[in-house]
Amino acid sequence: MPELNDIRKTLEQHGQEHLLSFWDDLNEDQQQSFLQQLEAIDFDELDELIESHVRHEPDKSIPDDLQPADPIPPVGSDDESAMALHEQARKKGLELIAEGKVAAFVVAGGQGTRLGYEGPKGCLPATPVVQKPLFRLFAEQIRAAALRHRVTIPWYIMTSPTNDTATQAHFRQNDFWGFSPKDVMFFRQGTMPAIDRDGKVLLARPGRLALSPDGHGGCLTAMRNSGALDDMARRGVEYISYFQVDNPLVHAIDPVFIGLHAMQNAQMSAKALPKREPMEKVGNFCKVDGKVHVIEYSDMPEELARQCTSDGRLRFNAGSIAIHILSRSFVEQLTEGGRCRLPWHRAEKKVNFLDLQSGQTVQPTEPNAVKLEMFVFDAMPLADQTVLLETRRTEEFSPIKNAEGPDSLTTSLHDQVRRWARWLEQAGVSIPRDADGQVAAAIEISPLYADSADELANKVDKSISISPGQNFYLGSRGQIGGS
Ligand code: UTP
Repeated sequence: MPELNDIRKTLEQHGQEHLLSFWDDLNEDQQQSFLQQLEAIDFDELDELIESHVRHEPDKSIPDDLQPADPIPPVGSDDESAMALHEQARKKGLELIAEGKVAAFVVAGGQGTRLGYEGPKGCLPATPVVQKPLFRLFAEQIRAAALRHRVTIPWYIMTSPTNDTATQAHFRQNDFWGFSPKDVMFFRQGTMPAIDRDGKVLLARPGRLALSPDGHGGCLTAMRNSGALDDMARRGVEYISYFQVDNPLVHAIDPVFIGLHAMQNAQMSAKALPKREPMEKVGNFCKVDGKVHVIEYSDMPEELARQCTSDGRLRFNAGSIAIHILSRSFVEQLTEGGRCRLPWHRAEKKVNFLDLQSGQTVQPTEPNAVKLEMFVFDAMPLADQTVLLETRRTEEFSPIKNAEGPDSLTTSLHDQVRRWARWLEQAGVSIPRDADGQVAAAIEISPLYADSADELANKVDKSISISPGQNFYLGSRGQIGGS
């Protein structure tokens, strides 16, 4: 058990002794748990970070020799050699899935402050007809792939200390959405203290630090320390299909992407999208000395972001959408010793804190603190080999980030309907459209029935009719539901 005197000394050495202001008001249990919380913090590292990221702005200069990164063209492109490569990759990917070498991994530890939904974002009802929670939608996709290949695909779910209990309760209440509980592993990511502008760590309440999750980049260390990597090794998993909890269009298990990654002996791969406009708020895939880097939109000089090639395309056109394949061996290598040092990023945020004078909780209306986060894409330059695969926005990217406006539930529901309508049309089913050509019905297809346009085309009865205004649901056995 940590000793109060030792901790007090450490706090004094680091100018953080205010954290013990309410010590005498805590009962014995609270004192013990607070000591443990304080002991888990590396105050030497924190001092350095306060100097580099709180008292000063970290250096955001970008390398001089920034080059665009060229992704492999997407499915359906007219580049014949790329399509031949896709076909080879699909076969390889299917083999690896069938051999049980692939796991699904969703990062779901974020705070979802922009969306403002009560509860973990993965529990948000997010499909157009059945209003399936995001977790159910992913569960069905992963189970569909597993059933197709008669194999187990384990699912790893990263939560945060704040949403872990609620996330696990959601799964228990819903019979793990059809998964066997032994094949779903939850683990919590690490946290970092919030720091005020004077470099002081904030208290959330007496005996509790104001902590926030350490960013999706924290998943690498969390996979190691939770035993998830060991569990993968025991199961023979070699490839980790990484996605975010907020994108209902993601293909959680994509044979082509997995196959390309494996065929090119890549360690970390990523899907890319052509940017909508030069300053779109997505990271930019770039190359520096032959390594792939993601330069955040806020760090990309506008002049570079706007540069065009001779055919009028953006020179830096490849945007990052946080869909990756990670080789298990790569994560093991990066986290040797129980830690992975990716760069820290700072964000100024509103953080509720305990006012030391009044003893009251303050809810600031303006950003008052710096949060520190790691981003998973910062592992890309550490990989010797990387595959970048272009995908289509309409097929695979429509995140739910905001309560309204762009990238909200409303836009994502529309995009889901459009994608499922397009799959049906490609299969020969006629879709009601309004005078502007917009789909005039709510349409949803269970991933357990068909999880791609091709799979749907092989199964669906082309004579089914969908009327304008209908809520149309194609269920797991092809039964029609909705209203
Ligand atoms: P975002 O960057 O959109 O952050 O996360 P967020 O916390 O969900 O939302 P805001 O910014 O507070 O509105 C992208 C993905 O990374 C996960 C999220 O759960 C989401 O799947 N994430 C983010 C984590 O797992 N941990 C983190 O610390 C941050």
